[in-house]
Amino acid sequence: MAQALHPEPATIVIFGASGDLTRRKLVPALYNLFLDGYLPNRFAVIGVGRKAMTDDDFQQRMRDGVDQFSRRGKAEDETWKEFARHLSFLSADADDPATYSTLEERLSAHDQEWGTKAHRIFYQATPPLLVETIVQHIGKTRLAHDRQRTRIVLEKPFGHDLASARELNNMLTGVFDESQIYRIDHYLGKETVQNILAFRFANALFEPIWDRRYIDHVQITVAEKVGVEHRGGYYDHAGALRDMIQNHLLQILCLIAMEPPVAFDADEIRDRKVDVLRAIRQRPQIHLHEFAVRGQYGAGWIQGEHVAAYRDEPGVDPDSPTETFAAVKLFVDNWRWQDVPFYLRTGKRLPTRASQVLIQFRPVPHQSFPSSAGLDWQPNRLLIHIQPEESIVLRFQAKQPGPAMRLSPVEMRFCYRDAFDATPPEAYETLLLDVILGDATLFMRADQVEAAWSVVTPILEGWESVAPVGFANYQAGTWGPEAAEALIAQDGRSWLQPDETTMEEKRRE
Ligand code: BG6
Repeated sequence: MAQALHPEPATIVIFGASGDLTRRKLVPALYNLFLDGYLPNRFAVIGVGRKAMTDDDFQQRMRDGVDQFSRRGKAEDETWKEFARHLSFLSADADDPATYSTLEERLSAHDQEWGTKAHRIFYQATPPLLVETIVQHIGKTRLAHDRQRTRIVLEKPFGHDLASARELNNMLTGVFDESQIYRIDHYLGKETVQNILAFRFANALFEPIWDRRYIDHVQITVAEKVGVEHRGGYYDHAGALRDMIQNHLLQILCLIAMEPPVAFDADEIRDRKVDVLRAIRQRPQIHLHEFAVRGQYGAGWIQGEHVAAYRDEPGVDPDSPTETFAAVKLFVDNWRWQDVPFYLRTGKRLPTRASQVLIQFRPVPHQSFPSSAGLDWQPNRLLIHIQPEESIVLRFQAKQPGPAMRLSPVEMRFCYRDAFDATPPEAYETLLLDVILGDATLFMRADQVEAAWSVVTPILEGWESVAPVGFANYQAGTWGPEAAEALIAQDGRSWLQPDETTMEEKRRE
């Protein structure tokens, strides 16, 4: 969440540069930052990977990635050439000390050429198993010595449970200072997610009613249409709770539930978010079924296409007990939120791709209109669409035109696309620029990660201690298992299903 845009010279070393993340996300993001003039003039990207590749091969591979995945579409020859001059590749083994001395030499050569000490950013785009090896090697060299100018960026998973997350954090802080560690949760880089902060704390309108007196409950839905794609091997050891709720959904919950920060400062904002995670009620495992539901998809149909069952996906155990859907009901035990339920759900192979937050307000305390006026009377609600639709919609009651007093719910809508005539940057653009600028606001601090694991670990342990019953328990292309409906219906409420009409279809209408 960059506040001033004056990046200093920087060298970005990407470990795992021959992998997918680099060509799908990282380099397209860097290229877009370059096109927008946000990168410093003196910058270099050094890809490190095991594949034997020349600089030319690497540049070509990255260009293919940009052509395929950049929000701007294909790269343009001239600008790409200019950008590609900054990319080089080091074909090397992460476990070989020589790799790190070569890196030292290259980084120093850049510093000399530029006549300055550039920022050094080490980006871990490797499988998690290699993280410790790389960090320990860096620790043995002088690569990370300048604490002001050296940073390490890590992708999730940050551990597998609370104990392993602590171990990982201890290992990292043995080499780097916490202020040098940037743990990515890419949801925090999404414009609509950051806008929750702006919406809440740059407006006086909603904050006075943003509490248990006016809000009935909150729903956070992150629905995915895709299955596990080519990541069955990873996913089968993770599951929806670890893969999505521990990080993305809990971070959204924090933004909705946090207290107003005193200043727009990385630690202040993260402190307020940690306060929320620490306030989440811990409940005994014997009541697990009342507040947590898991599901796994079977074969089914999504928009006319037949899709395989989870257990038939490549890399997945044919008897897998892993959940591809999770729904939980959480309470934040503090003055603001006492007894307001937060319902969170996420799943793969649901009918549509949509992430949204519903703030459901309480009904009016007294209904002064005759009952004939209010057949359609529904409480106010605020719907924050995170993706693919990017909008905020407030529902309220209006008088229907005509001689009689008849109420009808209507909507007030803010739509990013209409309000701002600009394509929003991708999450990785925002996050990479923040790393270059040294702004850690949108990154996960160690205590945040651990507090989030404290929330989900008891649920994971409860689930792991009893084999799931009836998996697969939802058909691909449906809204998850029946138990997820029951979870919310037992409180007399229901999920607000995202609109299944795709954006494309809406535009065509
Ligand atoms: C990742 C998960 O963190 O987020 C994936 O590992 C998931 O399983 C992805 O598909 C969803 O991200 P987005 O930005 O497409 O909603």
